[in-house]
Amino acid sequence: MNYSEKKNGKNPEESKAETTIVMLPSDANPKGNVFGGVILKHVDLIAGLVAKRHAGHANVVTASIDKMSFLKPIFIGNAIILSARINYVKRSSMEIEVNIQAEDLDDNTIVHAGTAFVTLVAIDKYGKPTAVPPLIPDNDDDKRRFQEGETRMKSRLNEAAKV
Ligand SMILES: CC(C)(COP(=O)(O)OP(=O)(O)OC[C@H]1O[C@@H](n2cnc3c(N)ncnc32)[C@H](O)[C@@H]1OP(=O)(O)O)[C@@H](O)C(=O)NCCC(=O)NCCS
Repeated sequence: MNYSEKKNGKNPEESKAETTIVMLPSDANPKGNVFGGVILKHVDLIAGLVAKRHAGHANVVTASIDKMSFLKPIFIGNAIILSARINYVKRSSMEIEVNIQAEDLDDNTIVHAGTAFVTLVAIDKYGKPTAVPPLIPDNDDDKRRFQEGETRMKSRLNEAAKV
């Protein structure tokens, strides 16, 4: 990486985000289970926020969300805690990892409910993909996530090419 890339780059810490949302009756089926689509909506929103923080002025759109599993049921009255960070940047595309936890607010127990990998692409005012600042890994964990993100990006693009 040359000096100007380093100067213009950002590290993952600069864009990370966390949010906690209480699940309401309108988020769930008649038995009280929160809809997967509601969780995905919040995953998409926070991933978009992280990508926008990284991209700066450019608009960002969701290109894909990797296959994900809902590991635990989430009910009306639970809180979902979403933690999101950027793992990998190619040119215009960014991989955002969203960790999903569910909190039972009656007893404050927290369980891991799933992990989502969302790819967002920065676009210019004409809707064309545009480069974002390079990602500068700050520590060993950032470097490992960057490499794993690169591997996942290759495989998701291979899968996308088959459709
Ligand atoms: C995402 C989108 C901008 C890609 O545009 P495109 O003309 O196909 O662009 P390209 O093939 O040149 O790819 C641009 C970048 O997107 C990445 N990309 C394209 N399809 C992808 C996919 N399915 N998954 C992950 N990344 C993808 C490419 O790898 C490339 O990344 P790079 O610039 O970092 O190398 C375009 O398909 C689009 O606008 N889709 C609709 C997005 C949308 O409406 N989302 C929901 C609302 S936010």
